[in-house]
Amino acid sequence: MEHPKTAFITGASSGIGASFARKLAEKGYDLALTARRHDKLESLAKTIKEKHNVKIELIKADLSLADDVERLSKYIKERADISFLVNNAGFGTAGFFNTVDIGKSLSMINVHAYAATALTHAALGNMIKNNSGAIINVSSMAGFIISPGSSVYHATKSYLNVFSACLAGEMQKIGADIKIQALCPGMTETEFFDTDEYRNKFDRTKVPRLMWMTADEVVGISLKALESGKGCRDTGHREQNIPRRNK
Ligand SMILES: NC(=O)c1ccc[n+]([C@@H]2O[C@H](COP(=O)([O-])OP(=O)(O)OC[C@H]3O[C@@H](n4cnc5c(N)ncnc54)[C@H](OP(=O)(O)O)[C@@H]3O)[C@@H](O)[C@H]2O)c1
Repeated sequence: MEHPKTAFITGASSGIGASFARKLAEKGYDLALTARRHDKLESLAKTIKEKHNVKIELIKADLSLADDVERLSKYIKERADISFLVNNAGFGTAGFFNTVDIGKSLSMINVHAYAATALTHAALGNMIKNNSGAIINVSSMAGFIISPGSSVYHATKSYLNVFSACLAGEMQKIGADIKIQALCPGMTETEFFDTDEYRNKFDRTKVPRLMWMTADEVVGISLKALESGKGCRDTGHREQNIPRRNK
């Protein structure tokens, strides 16, 4: 793994993104953190700075909006020190496609697929020039599953899996030392299910305790796999990083 520089993390205001921020700061990375809830980013930055001597920049942005994605892409392109990108921002919807507001589904495509694709392209230019870097696309186990319910969630996560695997192959072909990982968590204890929609339609107590992981567990497994190169250069889904405790 290259010397820590700056890690750019989307969806850093809670859950898995906040955990990436804490763990990458611990490894010495300066941080550029983005989300819509600036107050949450500020309190995260404060706690990180109490422990680690790193620079932290906060950028408020809504990844469902093309203008905001363009602004972030420009920012990333101008920062040659961004050597780590985590496309983590995401959300779920509950119910069959025809019952979900189409605006929400289209926003999901923007946040999960459009933004992750644009930001990856923005970061890759300098990473290829520097011949080093790492990109983690936070996908989901849902990306492997074809079943009724949350169609756009499953489809966009499947996109991230295939996109990441093909991109990893491209980096290998051009001999670039850039690690690409699709991180595919299962049930993770975050704010993900704390929406009115999920509160009414999903009872988390019905999911066996054993099936849940903490965000820190998921991120710990992801970074360990990234450092060992596992699940980063293979093009088969089997090789992607599905966090399991016994790894
Ligand atoms: N929790 C799970 O069981 C689970 C399982 C598999 C995969 N995942 C994936 O893990 C990733 C992180 O989710 P989490 O579990 O950590 O949930 P979370 O605690 O709800 O965090 C989601 C993050 O995404 C950001 N976000 C959502 N919509 C956004 C938008 N339009 N623009 C900018 N940022 C946006 C949120 O920030 P703001 O609200 O401040 O904008 C927040 O920081 C997601 O991609 C999710 O699909 C989660």
